[in-house]
Amino acid sequence: MTTRDEQLRDEALQMVEENEELVSQDPYRLSYHLMPPVGLLNDPNGFIQWKGTYHLFYQWLPFKTDHGAKFWGHYSSTDLVDWTHEPIALTPSEWFEKNGCYSGSTIDHDGKLYLFYTGNVKDEAGNRETYQCVAISEDGLDFDKKGPVVHLPDGYTAHFRDPKVWKKDGLYYMVVGAQSKELTGKVALFRSSDLEEWELMGNAAGSYQGGLHDFGYMWECPDLFELDGNDVLIVSPQGLEAKGMNYQNVYQAGYFVGKLDYSTGSLSHGEFVELDRGFDFYAPQTTEDEKGRRLLVAWMSVPDQNEQDHPTIAYKWIHNMTIPRELKLMNGHIYQQPVEELKQLRKGSAVYYDVTLLDEERVFEGVAGKSMELIVEELAIEEEFQVRIGGDVRLSFNRKQGVFTMERTSYVDGSREKRQCELHQLTKLQVYVDHSSVEAFINDGAEVFTCRFFPSPKDESVRFMARGEVKGKLEKYGLK
Ligand code: FRU
Repeated sequence: MTTRDEQLRDEALQMVEENEELVSQDPYRLSYHLMPPVGLLNDPNGFIQWKGTYHLFYQWLPFKTDHGAKFWGHYSSTDLVDWTHEPIALTPSEWFEKNGCYSGSTIDHDGKLYLFYTGNVKDEAGNRETYQCVAISEDGLDFDKKGPVVHLPDGYTAHFRDPKVWKKDGLYYMVVGAQSKELTGKVALFRSSDLEEWELMGNAAGSYQGGLHDFGYMWECPDLFELDGNDVLIVSPQGLEAKGMNYQNVYQAGYFVGKLDYSTGSLSHGEFVELDRGFDFYAPQTTEDEKGRRLLVAWMSVPDQNEQDHPTIAYKWIHNMTIPRELKLMNGHIYQQPVEELKQLRKGSAVYYDVTLLDEERVFEGVAGKSMELIVEELAIEEEFQVRIGGDVRLSFNRKQGVFTMERTSYVDGSREKRQCELHQLTKLQVYVDHSSVEAFINDGAEVFTCRFFPSPKDESVRFMARGEVKGKLEKYGLK
């Protein structure tokens, strides 16, 4: 360990200790979502199940609730439910990462954990340099930095980051989020036989290729994997213009389904589809676990989207992850489901109701809380059905319009704001509420809406509203 590394670790731990009490007093602290102990959390990194244990690293700035020279924080778990905060995995201590150990991934190689990340460097004039680096661990806790293995190739700007590595037929592949010299978003693909020497194959996908026209000026956090016989590219493009109900956030996160030609490195693919239709979802990362499931976790925020107006800043922390979700591909569409293990969060006895509403608004005894799971299924909706959480977030389905809406009170100016998607029919709604977050899974995860919200801390209410007749089965669980 270098002295700079030790110094940064000490300073970070000091920040944690000094602010522990203040942070814990925030009524908007979540109970079962991963958060930073202090400071800012953004992208999930290095998600893997390794030797039985799940590891989820995260972009972390311990010193302020803003972006800057990121660390890799580290959580581990054996069941995706109870997480342990582990010692810091990476500090930005070396010349090749001095302005941040940016996002990346992990992979097992000969029983060791290889961690790939972007070393972000800025010179005095603010010019950026980028290095794709590797660090190796024998125990999954201490990482030995080996430095850069990929230097910026010709044809790209220094917006070149977030390596995701996987193995296929005895070779290793790496996708990197990139911007071409023409200022268009790309995904660069590399190949290696030993994880050390990397050969650039070309752009697997991007603006002005694979049937796309202009599709953003930068693509961040690519992730390429096989799902139910297809190849899926998940990516977070920047620079898409809002179009009807689509692309309403500042930046997007979504996927393409296709086929990667491993000899040419080019991905033929269909249309870009947003993974989550809510306000707060970005930079998702997946892993295949030992059960063969494809699991996803995302950052529950969006860069540059009024981050500095979050009320939790007063308590010296900001942002959290989504719950882990399992992905399935059906008829070319990704379905996201909360991982099964989350049932372990349920506590106390469940509350059930056979619901019939007719042009009315109702509350149901026992259906309230700050940390809960709601399921409404076998829904039959004549005109409109709404669920209002904590007097703030409203989830509604309007059958005539064929539209599902998530609405919340803006934490910037108190106005009401909404996100929407087309939906033919609402048959099932499963909602995870956790103090200041809502994740709504529609029709078994065909669509998902995620957001933060900052309700009056005392309001635990859930109100149901119907226009015309609504029938369904309601189930509620308190969560830990
Ligand atoms: C996405 C991102 C990544 C980068 C990281 C820095 O949110 O901008 O592209 O590696 O955050 O924290």
